[in-house]
Amino acid sequence: MTREERAALKKQKPKVVWLTGLSGAGKSTIANALDAQLYADGYHTYILDGDNVRHGLNRDLSFSKQDRVENIRRVAEVAKLMADAGLIVIVSFISPFREDRALARSMISQQDDFIEVFIDTPLQECIRRDPKGLYRKALLGDIPDFTGISSAYEPPINPDLHLKTMEASPMELAAQIIDYLKIRQTSA
Ligand code: ADX
Repeated sequence: MTREERAALKKQKPKVVWLTGLSGAGKSTIANALDAQLYADGYHTYILDGDNVRHGLNRDLSFSKQDRVENIRRVAEVAKLMADAGLIVIVSFISPFREDRALARSMISQQDDFIEVFIDTPLQECIRRDPKGLYRKALLGDIPDFTGISSAYEPPINPDLHLKTMEASPMELAAQIIDYLKIRQTSA
């Protein structure tokens, strides 16, 4: 069967929605809200999240620059396969390096829409929220190569969507992503 036939059966246009941002920025929360809203609208979706994928497929990878590059390369390949199967794939990884996000886009956008969404939360707010207590440890020097503290985060220069989490709730931000996806679908 062809990719077009698989997508047609699901009555949707496959897409990869790529969420990038600092640890604690709210990526997973927004990904889950987006997933739930799309599901309720009858779309077929799947979430790839760093916190899960790093326990399975990518359990051999550390947070060194080299391993983060490989982390993102593998995830982009998996997202591409899932889009090929007809799904709307929500990718939620820090994905700190512009070059790697550009690689993911170039791999996927030949076939399917690739939407880069910058989940923008100021570092100070991520440190204040610190949902997993990791910033506290990183600031004490207990976690090496921690994004935003001892490893770089390169914010997108031209994201498809720039969402500021200080200005709206995760539900509202997920709805903004859906608005954007629907516009793209009707104009496609
Ligand atoms: S990425 O940089 O390679 O894209 P990824 O999204 O897979 O990162 O994983 C990030 C998650 O791993 C964070 O939300 C946090 O829970 C955890 N983590 C553990 N160590 C680090 C670290 N050194 N830097 C950033 N996140 C870390």
